[in-house]
Amino acid sequence: MPNILVIDDDASIVESLDLYLTEEGYTVKTALTGTEGLNKYVEDPSDVVILDIRLPDVDGFSVLEDLKEENENVKVIMITAFHDMETTINAMKGGAFDYIHKPINVDELDIAIRKALKSLEMEKKIDGLLMEPSRNFRVGDIIGTGNEMREIFKTIGIVSKSRTTVLIQGESGTGKELIAKVIHNNTSPDEPFIAVNCSAIVETLLESELFGHEKGSFTGAIARKLGKFELARFGTVFLDEISEMSINLQAKLLRVLQEMEFERVGGKDKVKVGARIMAATNKDLKAMVKEGKFRDDLFYRLNIVSITIPPLRSRRQDIQPLIDYLLAKINLDLHKKVIGVSGEVMDIFMKYPWPGNIRELENLLVRACVVAKGQVLGVGDFPELGKDDAVLEGKVRESDIFKSPEPGKLLTLDQVEERYIRKVIHETDKNKGEICEILGVSRPTLERKLEKYGITFERE
Ligand SMILES: Nc1ncnc2c1ncn2[C@@H]1O[C@H](COP(=O)(O)OP(=O)(O)OP(=O)(O)O)[C@@H](O)[C@H]1O
Ligand SMILES: [Mg+2]
Repeated sequence: MPNILVIDDDASIVESLDLYLTEEGYTVKTALTGTEGLNKYVEDPSDVVILDIRLPDVDGFSVLEDLKEENENVKVIMITAFHDMETTINAMKGGAFDYIHKPINVDELDIAIRKALKSLEMEKKIDGLLMEPSRNFRVGDIIGTGNEMREIFKTIGIVSKSRTTVLIQGESGTGKELIAKVIHNNTSPDEPFIAVNCSAIVETLLESELFGHEKGSFTGAIARKLGKFELARFGTVFLDEISEMSINLQAKLLRVLQEMEFERVGGKDKVKVGARIMAATNKDLKAMVKEGKFRDDLFYRLNIVSITIPPLRSRRQDIQPLIDYLLAKINLDLHKKVIGVSGEVMDIFMKYPWPGNIRELENLLVRACVVAKGQVLGVGDFPELGKDDAVLEGKVRESDIFKSPEPGKLLTLDQVEERYIRKVIHETDKNKGEICEILGVSRPTLERKLEKYGITFERE
């Protein structure tokens, strides 16, 4: 509950403000002189100080100065009967947060207090972020302009107020870890964020990674080791690629989530979990549940709130802002001055399917920046794209012909047919008659299919 200190020599004003603000839900302290006010502030600093300018002992401006000396960020709202500009300017110059006139209008006062508290909250947040050691996050680090991304931002805001479990789904490189970090930084910035990749390690090792072990619990356990759940304290354990966790470990994780306590491997003591759990996957977990590859009870437990990040190809309006953002970042890292990509490159980017999503875009830009001579990246700076113009024209790589753009979802027959027709057209220089032969269909059938899939093809 926010604290407010009221310093005014007019007892009736002090009393009515006390009543009003207490009713509004604030904790209120009052003082009738500057010295008394300062003492009360030093003893127990309030969030906001409402300060009269004309006081019997010292004048309000010097109280303001002393308060600022005590705490640079103190939010002081000055009140006075004077209406002249100079007083106002002096108050603001002295570092007052706001300035209101007597007789006090409660609406005006309300707004000023709310603004002051809001600003205090922002400062605290920014302080927290600056203390973040991983340096991976700044406010506004997630670029996204469409409705889907905006909904995600809202969800991030909502889940940041609580410590519920969050499941983040999306193709590889869509920013799952980034979003997890942003949520973490909004919830518990001063606590650790610990990511564990559930696919990287063998089951027994993963278990001891997560839960720790006691000395001698298995060969090689020469000392007690704390697991990630303990190391994360009141921060976050981010379980990446959760779909890869063995069924056996899934059961153990479920118990931890239900009981919020666990035992170290080879230990008997119960250890409490204070950390928040987030999980990420690029697989379709629900489908895995149906196939019996993932425990349904664990799925529901993890899926309390879920965020599904759309792939880059379905939000192409983000490509330009992402390029701007990523180039700024890359310029800083590489000491370059690249300002953008050529129109031709942009055209390619707008058609490219981005299987590796934002990470792929980022990697392409980094490589191009390293070799680029000019300030604008041209087609020549992206040799990978040149070689693979297949994808750009709808042609599909041999190995990818049956690969669905959506994780966990298989292609339909039509999709396969379309891909195969495009492939044959683009990989040969044959005319329509010859293509019909290769595909084993009549000319009208080919024409029908070309029309159906919107393929234009002019080799007669
Ligand atoms: N919306 C975004 N705005 C800015 N940068 C982004 C965005 N999404 C992702 N990135 C950047 O793209 C890179 C990949 O993101 P991240 O590692 O979070 O993806 P991921 O979904 O965890 O990928 P994987 O499934 O491969 O582990 C990171 O450098 C990240 O900062
Ligand atoms: Mg990741």
